[in-house]
Amino acid sequence: MAPSPRLPAGSCLQYVGGELYLEGVPVHTLAKEFGTPLFVYSKASAIGTLTSYTRGFNGHPHRIHYAMKANSNLAILQLFARAGCGFDIVSAGEFARALKAGAKPEHCVFSGVGKTASEIDYALSHGVGCFNVESRSELLLISQRALALDKTAPISLRVNPDVDAKTHPYISTGLRDNKFGIAHDEAINVYREAKELPGLQIVGIDCHIGSQITQITPFMDALERVLDLVDELSRVGIELSHIDLGGGLGIDYSGEDVPSPETLWRAVISRMKARGAGNYEVWCEPGRSLIGNAGICITKALVCKNTPEKNFLVVDAAMNDLPRPAMYGAFHEIVPATVGAGEASTWEVVGPVCESGDWIGKERSLSVSEGDLLAVCSTGAYSMSMSSQYNSRPRAAEVLIDGESVHVIRDRESVEDLWQREHLLP
Ligand code: LLP
Repeated sequence: MAPSPRLPAGSCLQYVGGELYLEGVPVHTLAKEFGTPLFVYSKASAIGTLTSYTRGFNGHPHRIHYAMKANSNLAILQLFARAGCGFDIVSAGEFARALKAGAKPEHCVFSGVGKTASEIDYALSHGVGCFNVESRSELLLISQRALALDKTAPISLRVNPDVDAKTHPYISTGLRDNKFGIAHDEAINVYREAKELPGLQIVGIDCHIGSQITQITPFMDALERVLDLVDELSRVGIELSHIDLGGGLGIDYSGEDVPSPETLWRAVISRMKARGAGNYEVWCEPGRSLIGNAGICITKALVCKNTPEKNFLVVDAAMNDLPRPAMYGAFHEIVPATVGAGEASTWEVVGPVCESGDWIGKERSLSVSEGDLLAVCSTGAYSMSMSSQYNSRPRAAEVLIDGESVHVIRDRESVEDLWQREHLLP
């Protein structure tokens, strides 16, 4: 038998006798029962990473808000809510989902650069825990809406610390020229204004510098900048109770050596204590690191197409299911469900969608035949949540594995689902 392919760290995937298992369940039995493409998530992987976060805080008062944009399936939210997480939300729709899954509203933080008046009203009337305010205009609007509804809005300013997260430009958010947050230099004035405005209660400070960050340094740089502001605020009589350092910790997609959540948060807490800021509650908003490597997408090889230029392997998952390669040129490990005995060839793994941008993996060495099953790894985050029905492809089903138990957490869409909200002309 050929050697087993590399599997991403923390994924709870393993080969047993050449068969790929997620926790205690063979991948091929899932495909047989539920069809493909199929998203499968491991509870043990998600909870294992969450535990690494908790260990990192090491008893320091903290709150972990799962950034549900990474994967907002109700059962995934329920899993994190039951494990004690709050949620980072960026729309009224996300807040509604979190509440439906059993979240405590006061444990939800509302981020995002374009909150509408009706979203603010929804959040206020359901008792959201904190607004992460991203502009002066938003601050004024929240104050107005709080007055109108006779509520007090807990707020924190999302400051833009102008540090380089050293990640893909589309997912870097903490640089001066990004649309996010309030510039470091303006933050003190906006806090002063917030203090005078009615209907607001200042509770914290927030930053989020980007996503898929694979080093500790950018987080520590952002921390220093935020702590400078906290000191300045304290001097002008504005006291906060929490510091929210956002999400952004990366995962192992292709062998990256990423620090564990425990390593990162131990370093943060220790630096805060060294700077005399050990009395603040620490909040965070991780998405990808909690669920990214807990998920795979099982797909079936449809066509092996050899051309003079390349070998194309057409699979039944496409850019509508897995948009990250097309959008960011992202890499996902692609591994066989059963380790093949044959010679490996080099393949362009592509989907059936009518675009050359519809690729899943380039130059992959695989021993594969038509009908074989493959797992596209590290697809727990920003895959299903960013999926579409492009080319009128019904969305995939989702299942959650817990040891040897399998829970269907989303049914495969039917073709009728495709036009559910459309109307024919009279
Ligand atoms: N908090 C805020 C305010 C955010 O904007 C984000 C992600 C997070 C937390 C969670 O970041 P994470 O821990 O997941 O890195 N679709 C892209 C990623 C976009 C991230 C946007 N913001 C991708 O597939 O790579």
